[in-house]
Formats: sequence, C-alpha cells, structure tokens
Amino acid sequence: MVTESNEANLASSSDGTGIGVPVKRHPYYLKGLDHFDWGIKDRMSRIFDRTSGKTVMLAFDHGYLMGPTSGLERLDLTIEPLMEHADCLMCTRGALRSVVPPHLNKPISLRSSAGTTILTDLNNECILDAEEAIRLNASCMAVMVAVGSKFEALTVENLVRTADRGSKYGIPTLGVTAVGKELVRDSRYLSMASRVCAENGATFVKTYYCETGFESVVNTCPVPIVIAGGKKLPEKEALELAYNAINDGAAGVDMGRNIFQSDAPVAMIKAVRHIVHNNGSVKDGLDIYNTIKNEA
Ligand code: R5P
Repeated sequence: MVTESNEANLASSSDGTGIGVPVKRHPYYLKGLDHFDWGIKDRMSRIFDRTSGKTVMLAFDHGYLMGPTSGLERLDLTIEPLMEHADCLMCTRGALRSVVPPHLNKPISLRSSAGTTILTDLNNECILDAEEAIRLNASCMAVMVAVGSKFEALTVENLVRTADRGSKYGIPTLGVTAVGKELVRDSRYLSMASRVCAENGATFVKTYYCETGFESVVNTCPVPIVIAGGKKLPEKEALELAYNAINDGAAGVDMGRNIFQSDAPVAMIKAVRHIVHNNGSVKDGLDIYNTIKNEA
C-alpha cells in the first residue's frame, strides 16, 4: 500500500523522473461504476457532487405525459428561479430548448422515452435518438421501465437500446421505474424493478421510497439509486421522505412536485439540499425552509 504522497515519492526517486513511483490511481466514488467507461464517469461526476457523493436533481419533465400540470403551467416563471439551486435538471427536450438557458451549464438528465399520456394506458413508449442527447450535451438519458405492466417488454427493450447507445457514446442511462395503478410500491417490487434496470444497462436508477425495506432496495441494486418525490406532501413530510431515503442509502433525490408545488419552492429546494448533501436533520431542513420562506 502506498502511504506517502506521489510528490514525496517523486522527490525521493533517484533521478526525479518517477521511475519506481507507483502510478496514481483514481478509484471512482459512485457505487458499482468502477469499470464503466471514461465518458460515463465524467458525465456522472457532473450529476453527483464529488464531496457528498449525492445529487439533488430537479424533475420537471411531467408535461410529457401530464401536459401543463399544476406548477408547470409556465416553466419560465416557476422553474427558472429554481435551476441554479439544482445539481441536475431532469426535463424533456422541448422544455430544455424553450426555457433552460444554455449558459447555465447545468447537467441535464434528458427525458428520452415518450409515448402514451395519462389519458390512456401509460408506458407504451418509444425512445429518442441518441444523437439528440449528444446534440443537447445531455449528462444522461432517462428512460421509463414498467416492470410488471403490459408494456414491460417494450420498456425493457427501450432501456436496453438506450444503454447500448449510451455505451457507444459514453452517456449514462437513468432507468426510471414506473408505477401504475396495477403496480404496488413495496420493497419487493421496487427491488425487482430497480435490479432489472441495473442488470439491463442502467448506470443509475430512479425509483420510489418505501417505508419498509428501502434499505434492501438500495442494497440489492448494484448502481446508485435516486428517489422520486411523488405527489405533493406537506413540506415536513417531504423532507422526512428525503431524509429517510438518504439515511437508507439513496444517492440523492430527483424531485419535482414536492419542490415546484411548494408554497416556497426556492426555500424547499435549499432545505432538501441541506438534507441530501450535509446529512442534515429534518428539523434543520424545516428551519431552513421556514426562514427563507419568511424572509421572502
Ligand atoms: C414523471 O413523470 C417524471 O418522471 C418525474 O420526473 C418523476 O415522477 C419525479 O417527479 P416527482 O418528484 O414529482 O414525482
């Protein structure tokens, strides 16, 4: 094991050329990705903070299947003020080109599957060309995977094709585990859906938190997991959700409605950041939320 710094080793090498000094190694900081390619790791490092190893992704891709849902009627008014506070923006190409300033230089999780909307059966989807992700400089391509639904095979194929193209171009694939009326959000189902995503090529997985057994969902998934926030909750409950998920091993959140539908969205995303990046308590998060909300 090398205990001295390389500089010290170099100084002590006989001729200063480094002969005999072990080459410096850079173990990768995210779970399960040691053997992935350079481009994938470079992009993952843009999404996940190098110090905490975690991420706060802001999800506002809901319009692709919900239309102008509450809080997303005018993305320029509600989402733009939040962008600077997120580590990564999860959106469609339509929203990206319309409202995300390119000079913001934020990593983008590009919604890369689309199809049926809430008016019909969800998850009957196709995928975007990987060239579009390259053109938009996406940091990852997010694809819905509906294990257990009638579109299971199609959505797994969408993931496989996306991961193939992601491998080719060095772009990570985010497997998004779908939920539907017929799918139960328990640890058994979420473990299976997350694992199916990882085994089929997802670089990381987005799933839902479950109160019982979430540790096991994380434990049995070989790559990082981030959680979706789900439907709007009272702020304290949403912060508890983030806290519990991080405490049980999640590598971050990909949260939408619990931020942009909050009474004070900037205060809320800052409170979530404190919990995710600083291992902050729910109480501290709530204090941050109330303080910023009251100042505003
Ligand atoms: C759903 O349509 C999208 O994939 C969202 O990105 C995802 O559900 C996360 O947003 P929320 O926290 O609102 O559930």
